[in-house]
Amino acid sequence: MKKAVCFSDKHYTIGKIDEKMYSSFTEHLGRSIYSGIYEPGHPDADEDGYRKDVMELVKELGVPVIRYPGGNFVSCYDWHDGIGPKENRPKRMDYAWSSIETNEFGIDEFCRWAKKVGVEPMIAVNLGTGSIKDAGDLVEYCNHPGGTYWSDLRAKNGSPEPYNIKYWCLGNEMEGSWQAGHLSAEDYTKKALEAAKIMKWVDPSIKLVACGSSYEMLPTYMEWDRTMLTELYDQVDYLSTHNYTMNSGQGTTNFVAAYKQLDSHIKNSGRVIEYVKAKNHFEKDLKICLDEWNVWNFQDIKLDSLDDLQGLTTFEMTSAEKWEIAPSILQEKYSLLDAIVVGGLGITLLNNADIVEIACLAQLINVIAPITTIRNGGIFKQAIYHPFHMLSKYGHGTTMKAIVNAPKYSCDFGELNIVEPAVVYNEEADEVRIFVLNCDQEEEVELEIDLQGYGEKKVKKHLVLNGEDYEARNTIEDPDRVTMKELEASGTNRVILPKLSWNVVILGS
Ligand code: AHR
Repeated sequence: MKKAVCFSDKHYTIGKIDEKMYSSFTEHLGRSIYSGIYEPGHPDADEDGYRKDVMELVKELGVPVIRYPGGNFVSCYDWHDGIGPKENRPKRMDYAWSSIETNEFGIDEFCRWAKKVGVEPMIAVNLGTGSIKDAGDLVEYCNHPGGTYWSDLRAKNGSPEPYNIKYWCLGNEMEGSWQAGHLSAEDYTKKALEAAKIMKWVDPSIKLVACGSSYEMLPTYMEWDRTMLTELYDQVDYLSTHNYTMNSGQGTTNFVAAYKQLDSHIKNSGRVIEYVKAKNHFEKDLKICLDEWNVWNFQDIKLDSLDDLQGLTTFEMTSAEKWEIAPSILQEKYSLLDAIVVGGLGITLLNNADIVEIACLAQLINVIAPITTIRNGGIFKQAIYHPFHMLSKYGHGTTMKAIVNAPKYSCDFGELNIVEPAVVYNEEADEVRIFVLNCDQEEEVELEIDLQGYGEKKVKKHLVLNGEDYEARNTIEDPDRVTMKELEASGTNRVILPKLSWNVVILGS
């Protein structure tokens, strides 16, 4: 059996994990909102038309912040269409996803749902086809207490108390040619700067997220961020970036090693922040808001690899006709292997807790999501639900530095350790919680956990995500085919990590 050692000393930390690390995202896209969050007439819908089964699972998943309403959708969206009496709301073409938006669900419905579920909304404004005035008006509508046109209208529409939304995204993926109203870095900078000014005039307490680069194959990658941050650094609080991992024929070894690709992606955003800070003598620190991340295999989009995004202007879907209402699109069916990879990406998030403050799993319901609903029917957890749930349940405290001594394997990202851990110290419970991937597809690995300065700690819980069939998927008929399993706790400082597995190991006194 292969052997590895993971060493951690209580004095050496990476960073405190922010609660917002386990946030998510829901877009007006496919069945994310309609027949996801909202389905009046469903047997389990409440008086507002919200599905109670969905609310329960979202609560269980433990997401603190949810980003809304897009995504690419936001760059075509006029928020005014989604307020007031529903019978007066217009049906519009959503260019982003070639669908029809009925506008039955808008900002008020989202904020009321968020309150019921106990999550904090993070709202993106339209900096594509929208104006800077629309952005300011939306902040006024949501956050101003009253006595002005937009705040009084909110009260008239049923919400006298302001929503006090703290986190605001200045557009979405504005670097991409697929974005409605896509801008050059210089033009985005000008527009975002003016939008930020107005939005902060309306409510100086808000926190702003600037659109950074997300796609490494675009020629503007990183140069976009340098240009934009040089002007916006002092006006914003976070730099946004997105990262999707696609299984597109690179082989299992490279797919499993995607945690390394996410790591370099995050570090690149961190480096450009540091560069702009140093060059311009800025004093404050900016944090990263990874407001979209996931495995996304483009199961129903005509695209062979992420490289094909360059120059792309429209997404062609194989799962629906154009201009349907709430079409069943982007409904990825996640496998055990995808779930193990998602777990690996979570390890990378934890190991970057010093620079990533907000991270949103994209998305939440039906669309590239951990939760799937059946229209007028039941609900089930996709395979990726489980690692994300474990991270949000146990990944609290401080990420500690981990030194690993292990056999190596080689992949597209170089020579890597066969095990990849994130070590979290939870001060409250006085527990060391280790999230660890065994990337070896053939053999189990015995992991020795060498802890210094934590007092006597032994393994008291060991949960594992693994199986014989890496293509296994959950369905409404077989909802627990892929799930976490509990192994017998060793009661020592050693654990056996099954071949190709994602593990949660908890050590306590
Ligand atoms: O999450 C799906 C899409 O991925 C979002 O709309 C967009 O921001 C990204 O390209």
